[in-house]
Amino acid sequence: MNTLRKITLFQFRNYSTAGFEFNAPVTCITGLNGSGKTNLLDAVYYLCYTKSYFSAYQQNSVQHGVDGFRVEGLFTKDDRTETISCKWKQGKKDITADGVEYERPTDHIGKYAAVMIAPDDMELVNEGSEGRRRWVDSILGQVDREYLERLMQYQRVLLQRNAWLKMQALKPSPDSVELEYYNEKLASDGTYIYDKRRIFINQFVPILQSFYQRLSGGREQVTAIYESDLAKGSLEKLLKQGLEHDLRLQRTLRGVHKDDWDFVLNGLPLKQYGSQGQKKSFLFALKLAQYAYLSMEQGHLPILLLDDIFEKLDQQRMEALLNIIKGPEFGQVILTDTHAERVREAFGSSADIGFIHLQ
Ligand SMILES: Nc1ncnc2c1ncn2[C@@H]1O[C@H](COP(=O)(O)OP(=O)(O)O)[C@@H](O)[C@H]1O
Ligand SMILES: [Mg+2]
Repeated sequence: MNTLRKITLFQFRNYSTAGFEFNAPVTCITGLNGSGKTNLLDAVYYLCYTKSYFSAYQQNSVQHGVDGFRVEGLFTKDDRTETISCKWKQGKKDITADGVEYERPTDHIGKYAAVMIAPDDMELVNEGSEGRRRWVDSILGQVDREYLERLMQYQRVLLQRNAWLKMQALKPSPDSVELEYYNEKLASDGTYIYDKRRIFINQFVPILQSFYQRLSGGREQVTAIYESDLAKGSLEKLLKQGLEHDLRLQRTLRGVHKDDWDFVLNGLPLKQYGSQGQKKSFLFALKLAQYAYLSMEQGHLPILLLDDIFEKLDQQRMEALLNIIKGPEFGQVILTDTHAERVREAFGSSADIGFIHLQ
């Protein structure tokens, strides 16, 4: 089990300097709106992944008016204790474990896993494919280093190929050595990514289905179907066949950067036909399945971070959710809510809950 024991924040969002301890299996952060609950949860996420869950711009995590921040955490994993420190200053990131800097910051990714469930995550169900790709990549990238490296390489080469396509509109070059190189690289990394995503979805769907049933208690059948151009043929062939089209539109139209996952309920697209409640159950099932998948692959229970979920769930789904996360297949839970009593009541008076009250 991964456990965060302590956290220290320095110039992180609304915190100048602050420290908090997590002494119980469940910690509830309470306080009024704007008191910094989500920021504190995000700081925990930052320690695990060296990036914010909510903002793609690191600068946003720096307290207004200063030029850097630091977040430090004391973790235990099995019987070992380790201090992780993440410093960010004017674009430069320093990550240390017990004072020793990582050679590559990505070496830290996956060491302490966390799964966040936050209100805006409904985008995963309601919006376009990009968010779903990012979500799957974030899961596979932390259990498979080669996946992460090949994905970054694929994205780099894709940009180069697209630049080459744009160039051709201005100044066509009959020499196709460059193009061949791009095609080969994309095909090699793309095939690896495709295979991993296929294996992943096969393992993932049964877990998703089981959580959906436990959450909804309903009889509806859910699934997630992996859609990829590569199901139609090798990427190398697709790139060759599609060249004319690519040249016309000046970008690469086929490949794993177009992949998607269809979420399906009783044979119909969830996005169009699912009720709000069914979509919520689906989203929570996705996240719990992510948790179960990570713990299975990594051999450790991640930290579960729940932001304001009591606002969003009806009584029945909430009880089902709490019953699941109280079970032995879940570890440390950190959650936020405006009302301490509501959380105390929901978990039951015998539950071991620590409270952090923010002013
Ligand atoms: N970079 C920043 N510097 C200073 N304050 C910030 C920064 N980013 C957000 N805040 C402040 O943090 C507060 C919001 O905190 P948040 O964690 O979202 O609160 P809660 O989740 O308790 O509603 C707001 O008052 C906001 O102005
Ligand atoms: Mg909040």
